[in-house]
Amino acid sequence: MCGIVGYLGTQQAASIILKGLQRLEYRGYDSAGLVLYDNAHFQMFKTQGKVHDLRQLTNFDATTQTIGLGHTRWATHGVPSDANAHPHYSNSGELALIHNGIIENYESIKKVLLAKGYHFISDTDTEVLVNLIEDVQKTQQCKLGKAVQIALTQVVGAFAIAVIDKKRQDELVAAKLGSPLAIGIGDNEFFVASDASPFIEYTNQAIYLEDHQMAILIKGEAPRLRWIKDDAVSEYDIHELELSLEQIEKGGYEHFMLKEIFEQPNAITNAFRGRLLPALEMIKMEGVQNNLSQFLEAKRIIIVACGTSWHAGLVAEYIIEELTRIPVEVEYASEFKYRNPIITPKDVVIAISQSGETADTLAAIKLAKEQGALVYGVCNVVGSSIARETHAGAYTHAGPEIGVASTKAFTTQITILTLVALHLAKEKGSLTKTEFNELVHELERIPEKVVEVLQVSDAIKEIAQSYAHATNCLFLGRGVNFPVALEGALKLKEISYIHAEGYPAAEMKHGPIALIDENMPVIVIAINKGHYEKTVSNIQEIKSRKGKIIAIVTKGDVVVKEMADHVIEVPETLEWLTPLLTTIPLQLLSYHMAVLLGKNVDQPRNLAKSVTVE
Ligand code: F6R
Repeated sequence: MCGIVGYLGTQQAASIILKGLQRLEYRGYDSAGLVLYDNAHFQMFKTQGKVHDLRQLTNFDATTQTIGLGHTRWATHGVPSDANAHPHYSNSGELALIHNGIIENYESIKKVLLAKGYHFISDTDTEVLVNLIEDVQKTQQCKLGKAVQIALTQVVGAFAIAVIDKKRQDELVAAKLGSPLAIGIGDNEFFVASDASPFIEYTNQAIYLEDHQMAILIKGEAPRLRWIKDDAVSEYDIHELELSLEQIEKGGYEHFMLKEIFEQPNAITNAFRGRLLPALEMIKMEGVQNNLSQFLEAKRIIIVACGTSWHAGLVAEYIIEELTRIPVEVEYASEFKYRNPIITPKDVVIAISQSGETADTLAAIKLAKEQGALVYGVCNVVGSSIARETHAGAYTHAGPEIGVASTKAFTTQITILTLVALHLAKEKGSLTKTEFNELVHELERIPEKVVEVLQVSDAIKEIAQSYAHATNCLFLGRGVNFPVALEGALKLKEISYIHAEGYPAAEMKHGPIALIDENMPVIVIAINKGHYEKTVSNIQEIKSRKGKIIAIVTKGDVVVKEMADHVIEVPETLEWLTPLLTTIPLQLLSYHMAVLLGKNVDQPRNLAKSVTVE
C-alpha cells in the first residue's frame, strides 16, 4: 500500500507534497517522509507516525525548494520506524526514491549488493531498489532513466516509484507495475501521485501509467513514456479529470466516514443514473449488453472480491440467483487464486473492488482471464488497475471514498449488481413484466428511503452510548440480509476494535448461542421479509438467555418492538432491495461506537484503504 507524491515545477514543493500526502493517508499512515531538492542538495525529513507528525519536524512554510518527493507508509518490510520511512537515499546520497509496492526478490538483490560493498540502514526492500539503480548507473555509466529501466527489469514484485538524482536538476523518473501511479501535467510543472487527489486543484490533465511503463519528466518538456521491458517509446493518453476538490474534503462533517455514510442517497442515484430507466421499462448496462450471449449462456457466475466488496458479492449472489436463476458462487479473491479453481470459458467472473487496486482481486482476475472466462469489473476508482484489467464492467460512481471503512462503496456495489441482475432477468425473461417493473420503480425510490433511514443517526448515537463498553457483539441476519450482518460486524471491529461476528440468524443455535448472556449485545436484522417469523423465534432465544437485543425492523413493526431492547426502523421495501436500507443503521452504529470510544474512525490502526499486497 503506501501513498506517494512527487512534485517538479516552480511552486513551493513542500506544501504541495504535504497536502497531497494527507489526502493519501487512507493508503497507509504508520510513517511519513519528504525529501526536497534544490541546487544539487537534498534535504530529508522522516518520522514514524502520520503526516501531521512529519509537519512538526520543521517549518516547511519557510522552505523554498520546487522539487521533492513524499511518502506515507503502510509497513510491509520492516517495522514502522524513522529509518524505515521513505524516501530512501542510495549509498552515495546521489539518488532519492519513494516506493509503493513490494520487491519480492529484494533479499537476493541485497546479497549481491552487500557483496559489492553496499550498506543498508533500513530493513526495507525500497532501500535495496534505490541502491540497485545506483549500481546500474555506476556500472553501465548511464543516465537516471536508463538506470531505472535496467534495474526494474531485474525486479520481481510490484512498484510505483518516483526517483530523483542530485546530478540531474529538473528531472524526475517514475515507473509502475502493479501499484497505481498518476501523473498530473500542469503549466511547466509535473505531479506524480498514487491517485489524482494530491494535484486536483492544480491541474485536471493526467496520465495514468500502465503496468510496465515508466515516465521521464523534465521541466519544460513534454512527458516521455517508455516500456520498461524493451525500452521502446510508448504512446499515452491525457485524461481530463472530473474529480473536484470538494469531493475529497470533509464538507462540514466530523469524519470522512460520516460524510460518506450521508452521501449514500446521492451515491446510489449516481450509480443508477442513465442505467435505470423505469419509463422505458428497461435497464441499460452497456458492459452486460455488449457481452450478453456470454452472460446468458454462462454455466455460472463466479464473484471474486475481498472484505466489504466480498460481502456485496454475497448479497448479489442472493439477488442474481433469485432474479435470473443463473448459479452464482462467491469466492474470496485471495483463496480463489491459490486453490487451483475450476474455471472455463463458459464462466463469467465478476470482480468487485472499490479501489480497483486490490492485489488479491487483480490476481484472481488474471487467473480467470488465463482460463478464458469473461471478466466483468465493478469498481469505484476510475482508471484503476482492475477497471483496466477487466473485459467489461461498470463504475459505481460513488465518488472518492476516503474513510478507510467502506460505506458508500458497499451500497453502490449492491446497486450495480442489482442492475446487472435486472438487465439479465429482462433479457432472459426470468421475471414477469410486473415483477421487473416493480423492482425497477422501487429501486428508483431507494435513495429517498435512505434519506429517511439517515434521520435515525442521533437515536443510534444514544443506543451506541449503552454499548460502547461491550467487548463482543453478534450480528444476525437471514437470507439476503445475512451478508449485511457480516458487513455490520466487519464495520464494528475495524473501527471500534470491538470483537464482532456475523452469523445467519438460524446458525446461532449451532454454537454462538453459548456466548449469549446479559453482557452480549446482539444486533438482529428482523425486517418483515424473508423468514420473519423464524427470526422472531431467534430473538426469543436470545431474550431467554438475557442477551441485549438491538433490532433493525420494518417501520410499524410491533412484534419485535415488544421483545427487543432497542429498535431501529427502516422503511418498507422489496425483499431484494432491503440490504440497501438495513446496512445504513449498522454503519451508523459502528461509527458512533467508535467515536464514543475515541478511536480514529477514518484511519483505524493497521488498515489501509487500498491493499496492494497479496
Ligand atoms: C472494509 C474495507 C475492506 C475492503 C477490502 C477490499 O471496510 O474497506 O474490507 O473492502 O480491502 O477493497 P476493495 O474493495 O478496494 O477491493
